[in-house]
Amino acid sequence: FHLDIDPTAADKGAYPFFMLKEIDEQAIVTRTLIEHYFVNGLPHINEKIIQAIKQSDRLYIVAAGTSYHAGLIGRRFFEKWAGIPTETHIASEFAYDRPIISKKPFFIFISQSGETADSIQVLDFVQKESYPSLTISNVMNSTLTRESDFALPILAGPEIAVASTKAYTAQIMTQVILAAAIAGGHSELQEELSRLAIDLQAEIDGKEKIKQIADKYLVNANRTFYIGRGADADSTLEAALKLKEISYTLVEGFAAGELKHGTISLIEQATPVIGLISQSKMAGLTRSNLEETMARGAKAVTIVTKNLATKDDDIILPALTGEMEMFGPILEAIPIQLLAYYTSLGRNLDVDHPRNLAKSVTVQ
Ligand code: G6P
Repeated sequence: FHLDIDPTAADKGAYPFFMLKEIDEQAIVTRTLIEHYFVNGLPHINEKIIQAIKQSDRLYIVAAGTSYHAGLIGRRFFEKWAGIPTETHIASEFAYDRPIISKKPFFIFISQSGETADSIQVLDFVQKESYPSLTISNVMNSTLTRESDFALPILAGPEIAVASTKAYTAQIMTQVILAAAIAGGHSELQEELSRLAIDLQAEIDGKEKIKQIADKYLVNANRTFYIGRGADADSTLEAALKLKEISYTLVEGFAAGELKHGTISLIEQATPVIGLISQSKMAGLTRSNLEETMARGAKAVTIVTKNLATKDDDIILPALTGEMEMFGPILEAIPIQLLAYYTSLGRNLDVDHPRNLAKSVTVQ
């Protein structure tokens, strides 16, 4: 008699895969971040970190994979809320092909594991130059958190599935809180994040609708495109990475305006083109781009915030207005992760262990 025991199976509870469990945990992680980072209703970050950042003239965010995508979104908050010019870089590129560095740079490493070799390589350079650094990570006793000057936890709890989900949204939210703390104030942020937790839970509870769309349009597609503008363009990159890495289909995500400069030639009958729409200024333009693909046979799928939605839209997200539109990518994270999950499931793949990929990449 032989019993096969998966040491991590117990933690999955009733879930078939860790990825689904981890997607489901995102509202809870949001509340954990609020509890950890807010004091008397205001964002509270170690004053030494705030001072070091305020003394700098430019932020350099360095990361890989999903963490890089979180850094693209975080950049918008550091610029708009804290008023600090910010660049986000792919670690493996920055390590060997560096831009001109400002007089007083501050480096922010974003890494779920804290062990990514590409990011460690850049930290080595940063330390040699004596530039100040902060690591935002899920693992507080990792190489990056230990060796950078400062560290902030994302408090997502263990993330087991190779495809990152809850760490991504937690990385974005930690940057949001940091940007607000640098800006000094944002007295409504705690309330906004609490509402966000409720909204994320509502999206998670609506997962059946996402499964239907995945089954109907994505499971049998061999190529899929995500388009969006502004913050939604950043979001398309993570949407594409999530779907391609666990479905083994070709997926590209890019700024909607670029469609006409190339990718539209790949549109065939029933090719899914998914539009992410949460930025009011650009919503109409993205919709026209979707229509252009439909005229060439594409199956357009819309993921739209409620305030910008019409009755014909496919996936309707909670409303976001005014400055809070910047939270668009956080709300979009749930459907893009669930679409990837259900597509992988529908293709009978091992959702948690995609071939050729590792949770943490410790080689360059
Ligand atoms: C691997 C993982 C990704 C992750 C990337 C960066 O490729 O499969 O999910 O985004 O590494 O990892 P890090 O731990 O630095 O966030």
